[in-house]
Amino acid sequence: MSSTNPIGLFDSGVGGTSIWKEIHQLLPHENTIYLADSKNAPYGKRPKQEIIDLSCKNVDFLLEQNCKIIVVACNTATTNAIKELRAKYDVPFIGIEPAIKPAAHLSETQTIGILATQGTLNSELFNRQVESYQTTKIIEQVGHGLVELIEAGQIESEEMTALLKSYLQPMIDTNIDYLVLGCSHYPYLIPAIKKIIPEHVKIIDSGEAVARQTKAVLEKNNLLNNTTAKGSQIFYANSDPAVLKGILGFSENVFEKEF
Ligand code: SIN
Repeated sequence: MSSTNPIGLFDSGVGGTSIWKEIHQLLPHENTIYLADSKNAPYGKRPKQEIIDLSCKNVDFLLEQNCKIIVVACNTATTNAIKELRAKYDVPFIGIEPAIKPAAHLSETQTIGILATQGTLNSELFNRQVESYQTTKIIEQVGHGLVELIEAGQIESEEMTALLKSYLQPMIDTNIDYLVLGCSHYPYLIPAIKKIIPEHVKIIDSGEAVARQTKAVLEKNNLLNNTTAKGSQIFYANSDPAVLKGILGFSENVFEKEF
């Protein structure tokens, strides 16, 4: 495997670009290939085996493009499929887990909120993580409908604001001081969330930590691209890439492709 090979990322749709942005900012010389499985979004309501099968299909495509490492830029796919992916493929994987640990350590009210998909909150991996924080009250909320609206490009819609209010107000009422965003789509909702939550409630997502971990694993495997040239960035969506282009803010190298 050569260090000039690309980093592969996949998500159920456009949300994992929040992770791609962090990785690209930290590692601008790396080549990357991003897959948006928009045709099958959202993953959050699907049974575990289906999430595993879809994740394998994405990984097969990324490995055909000679990716040197795979970033599972989707909380639902990480919490439901990363164990199976690591067992099946001989390539390093980086997953994205909700940032419960830093939130629990920083919380002064010992009460934190987590907004995530049903698939993530039901997963064994997530529940094992939660069990290790006995002293912190963790208020879980499924973000029903949020991914669908983001995938439809309706981030600033009235429907989105109404849904967010209905999910966040009960958490605010229980005195949370940290809100964990447990889905890679949700960082795109931060401006809308900030209009709802009080200023003292801090928002935490996992993007920066995933980027740092990606760099560390590449270094450990001697796979960091040591060029000074800018990397190439390619994006594929398996349905109309208009929302993907909108969320990225550019359209060069964003393609519609079957995979
Ligand atoms: C989903 O596809 O339901 C959301 C993806 C995620 O959990 O990050």
